[in-house]
Amino acid sequence: MTLGAPALASECRFARAEDLHVVVAARLWELIDAAVEERGRATIALAGGSTPVPIYNLLREMPLPWDRLTLVPTDERWVNVDDPDSNEGMFRRELLAGATAGVELLSMARSRAAAAADAAACDESLARLPAFDAVLLGMGADGHTASWFPGARGLQAALEGPRRCVAVEPATTAQTRITLTRDAVVAAQRLLLVIGGPTKWEVYERARDAPDPTGLPVSAVLHQDRAPVDVYWSAD
Ligand code: 6PG
Repeated sequence: MTLGAPALASECRFARAEDLHVVVAARLWELIDAAVEERGRATIALAGGSTPVPIYNLLREMPLPWDRLTLVPTDERWVNVDDPDSNEGMFRRELLAGATAGVELLSMARSRAAAAADAAACDESLARLPAFDAVLLGMGADGHTASWFPGARGLQAALEGPRRCVAVEPATTAQTRITLTRDAVVAAQRLLLVIGGPTKWEVYERARDAPDPTGLPVSAVLHQDRAPVDVYWSAD
């Protein structure tokens, strides 16, 4: 299999989403355990949105070393945590219950005073963390990943800037977003890109076969030479 993007380590295609969920949850567990074994703690970033929720539901039932784990959202809608759109709220509902209570979760939308101030605070917190052992990314049908939306104000700082976290203003979302930057993401040991459905596969293939970071921002993680990327796609 010749893969069109240098960072691409593997592409796994599944007929059923349920099979993808099991494989990706097991892969995250494996990466977390390896990091804890090696360094005593694991630091991972997890995507928001809806695709990964069944993966998080599986993870929360697994005997992970939760009290050795630091979780960071790949991005956040700049809303209160009790807002239905909050990624942190989704993590707390779908992943962090019961035994997982020992986990450390970094909040991105904190003060609600100004998104830029929250992003700066997050940037400082991230500076005190090691590089991510794993980052789970999703992708929108417009080719965005994290909150790197095509045409978003702040996209260039997210893709090219030296910081680890910035605020962006997508033209296509209801909320201001706070997002990890490309630099923070590609510093990770491993990237897992999880996508579903034929439309997203076609968008992914375009991004894989020709770098277009401003038009298809997901290509910013496919065309880089730092972090290997495993792609997991399901037909439904
Ligand atoms: C978010 C995510 C975002 C997501 C894509 C895909 O906050 O929405 O972090 O990057 O991965 O928008 O979302 P779905 O999985 O819901 O299609």
